Amino acid sequence: MTFSKQMLEIAHLPSRIVKSVKINYLYRLYLKKRIRYIEVYRERMNKQIKLGPTESRWRPKTSRWKRIGHLQFQFLVQQRLKPEHSLLDIGCGTLRGGIHFIKYLNPGNYTGIDISPEAIKIAQQLIIKEDLGDRKPRLLITADSQFKEFSGETFDFLFAYSVFCHLPPEEIEEIFQNIGKIMGSESTFFFTFKPAKKFKMDKGKGIKFNFRYPLSYFEELAMKYGFNIRLLEPPSAYNYPEKKRVAKITKNNQITDPNSRGNDIPAPKLHSEREQK
Ligand SMILES: C[S@@+](CC[C@H](N)C(=O)[O-])C[C@H]1O[C@@H](n2cnc3c(N)ncnc32)[C@H](O)[C@@H]1O
Repeated sequence: MTFSKQMLEIAHLPSRIVKSVKINYLYRLYLKKRIRYIEVYRERMNKQIKLGPTESRWRPKTSRWKRIGHLQFQFLVQQRLKPEHSLLDIGCGTLRGGIHFIKYLNPGNYTGIDISPEAIKIAQQLIIKEDLGDRKPRLLITADSQFKEFSGETFDFLFAYSVFCHLPPEEIEEIFQNIGKIMGSESTFFFTFKPAKKFKMDKGKGIKFNFRYPLSYFEELAMKYGFNIRLLEPPSAYNYPEKKRVAKITKNNQITDPNSRGNDIPAPKLHSEREQK
């Protein structure tokens, strides 16, 4: 390690410690049910983004950021996203996927929401840097998952990439409870999750912000809130990283047409899959 890198790390230390203490404190409040989980997760996301351009994996243009963003784009285009469609990127972060969607969609058709002001700040800077203002992306900080900011507006596509694997059940349920308000009869909501036989929160030193769910959990929510759900088989061109799976949600007033958006493959029985370990 070079001298200057060491100095840089030491310089960061106090504020990092303060932030970790704050996250631990917030987490304890969450366990006591005094605050909701996303208030802790927001702080964690803010902290990770503030780590700086070389250390934070959420900073635009790292190789992983570029690779995963491109996969997200390829995936939705395979699912027949067209420039004239509107897209809501739920938990858009620092526009890993968003940057591709903004370039591809007609002006005004991309909306990204996130609970993290730091993520939205970096996203806005990226729009300026890439000179994409004329694509008119809408980037919003949200406090919860009630989608009140959209009052009556609906989206053709809704996407939550790498969001549910960081949320506990009550936060996911809030999304299912409210997402119908911003979906029309033809809208499609795709989300990723990490599958497991049973609900699991990753364990280890420190707070783990990773959750795994059986598909049956989402199936129950879909039934409760009036949606159809399908687990998508990975199209051969799409290499799902980190053993993530993608599910597709539609309103259950929709007649399933084989030519409609999304490959409607019946959900396989998850317990026979190797990736549930
Ligand atoms: C792991 S990051 C993924 C970000 C982005 N989708 C990507 O692939 O780069 C998860 C993001 O979801 C955001 N998030 C978590 N829960 C949310 C919610 N209920 N509504 C909006 N954003 C949320 C977090 O702040 C974070 O930026």
